[in-house]
Amino acid sequence: MNPFPLFRRLGLRLVLGALALWSGLLVSCVMTGRTMLAPPAVPGATFVGAQACTKCHTDIARGFHDATHAGIVMKAANGAVKNISCESCHGPASLHIKAGTRATIVNPKISPDTCIQCHPNTRAEFSLPFTHPVLAGKIACTNCHNPHEGEAHAADAGARTLVAATNATCAKCHPAQTGPFVFGHEVMRDGCVACHAPHGSVNDKMLKSRGTSLCYQCHFQPQSSGVTIMHGGVDHSSNVLRGTCWSAGCHEAVHGSNVNSSLRF
Ligand code: HEC
Ligand code: HEC
Ligand code: HEC
Ligand code: HEC
Ligand code: HEC
Ligand code: HEC
Ligand code: HEC
Repeated sequence: MNPFPLFRRLGLRLVLGALALWSGLLVSCVMTGRTMLAPPAVPGATFVGAQACTKCHTDIARGFHDATHAGIVMKAANGAVKNISCESCHGPASLHIKAGTRATIVNPKISPDTCIQCHPNTRAEFSLPFTHPVLAGKIACTNCHNPHEGEAHAADAGARTLVAATNATCAKCHPAQTGPFVFGHEVMRDGCVACHAPHGSVNDKMLKSRGTSLCYQCHFQPQSSGVTIMHGGVDHSSNVLRGTCWSAGCHEAVHGSNVNSSLRF
């Protein structure tokens, strides 16, 4: 169950409103009588604001200005706002900045719970029948999302286009599907996510849809005859009865091929 229902409603509304009006301010963690967002707790500690981290964590702080999460602020009852972006994931840091020890700060590392508390729908996605083993602790949200720099989807610092960054992320663990190939499938420009739902799916291999409809998203061809089914100038009438486009010995090399331009193998 989502323990912060109001944050989600309120928060997301504020995100949109704030983005339009005040682009530096992403979301408010509204500390009014109806406080809804609960960042990780550190017993006895209070929030100090992101500015306080700069002194000792220069590298991380330097890259952080354009990070997706850089604008998370806390609003006091009197309307004053404090940027608590670092602490929204790491917990309040007043004790840590005095002691400089690990025990006084939260490191979300491999546990996805810190992320899920603010992105509760991802728990459901990672509970679908075919998923990346994130809840099992085998891979982390941060294998695919950079919390400290740039667009949260980017794998590498400096990667600025979302799709290129996403493919590079997948390539770290799935080089065989990423190529390059002699005969590439142009769809890769749209990214792996054209066909796969990386958080999880009800379909095998985390495919976005089952069977032929996956390919028809882009390869649907209006048919001139009611009798034959044509694709790329080739009669597919009997082929489509044999299985999906990529099984049954047809376009098995969906990711690209080094030998066949029709991506057969
Ligand atoms: C006075 C210097 C100082 C300041 C200011 C400081 N830190 Fe640290 N921080 C440290 C040191 C030193 C370590 C490494 C401790 C170790 O390796 O034992 C550390 C480690 C960490 C870690 C890693 C903990 C782990 O388990 O590996 C996190 C996360 C962290 N700091 C977050 C923050 C945040 C967020 C802020 C700002 C709110 C902040 N720090 C401000 C000195 C500081
Ligand atoms: C969106 C959540 C999030 C935000 C915001 C965030 N961090 Fe982190 N931070 C993480 C996660 C997750 C890790 C662990 C990364 C890993 O090991 O994969 C981490 C690790 C760290 C570490 C330990 C690095 C190491 O090499 O062990 C430090 C220090 C740190 N963060 C400081 C900061 C500071 C300073 C800020 C703000 C400028 C900040 N973080 C903002 C999620 C966040
Ligand atoms: C304190 C709450 C909070 C925490 C903790 C948090 N996030 Fe976020 N995250 C947000 C907000 C707010 C946004 C921007 C608003 C939005 O688009 O929903 C956001 C945006 C994102 C986005 C971009 C969404 C998009 O549509 O492009 C990603 C990806 C993301 N977060 C991943 C993570 C990961 C991974 C972690 C854990 C390391 C994490 N978040 C921890 C609040 C949080
Ligand atoms: C295997 C890589 C991978 C892992 C692991 C992963 N994500 Fe994502 N995530 C992506 C990609 C790729 C997208 C963009 C999807 C798209 O464009 O269709 C995305 C989108 C998102 C978004 C924005 C869209 C949405 O679904 O709301 C958020 C927020 C997010 N991820 C959070 C998380 C959190 C939290 C975790 C860990 C619990 C996580 N992700 C783990 C790859 C991953
Ligand atoms: C940190 C490594 C890592 C990253 C990054 C990663 N994956 Fe994975 N992927 C895995 C693991 C581990 C599995 C599970 C393999 C298993 O269960 O045998 C997996 C499984 C898959 C599967 C299902 C394979 C099967 O045989 O059922 C697909 C499809 C997939 N990943 C696509 C992607 C896409 C798309 C991305 C980029 C958005 C991505 N992965 C990023 C590690 C990763
Ligand atoms: C045109 C749609 C499409 C795109 C784009 C796509 N895939 Fe796939 N992928 C598939 C299909 C279909 C399968 C299932 C193949 C099978 O069952 O034989 C699959 C299977 C996989 C598997 C499981 C192992 C295997 O080869 O059967 C992995 C891992 C994978 N894809 C990763 C990726 C990565 C990484 C990207 C981006 C570089 C990507 N895919 C882009 C359609 C696609
Ligand atoms: C997001 C769009 C998209 C999706 C989804 C997609 N494709 Fe493609 N595909 C393309 C584009 C673009 C081309 C290159 C232009 C063309 O030949 O039509 C292409 C080319 C091909 C070719 C080479 C045609 C030739 O002989 O030159 C084959 C075969 C193919 N796709 C099969 C598939 C299969 C099988 C699937 C489903 C697993 C699929 N495609 C899903 C966009 C897509």
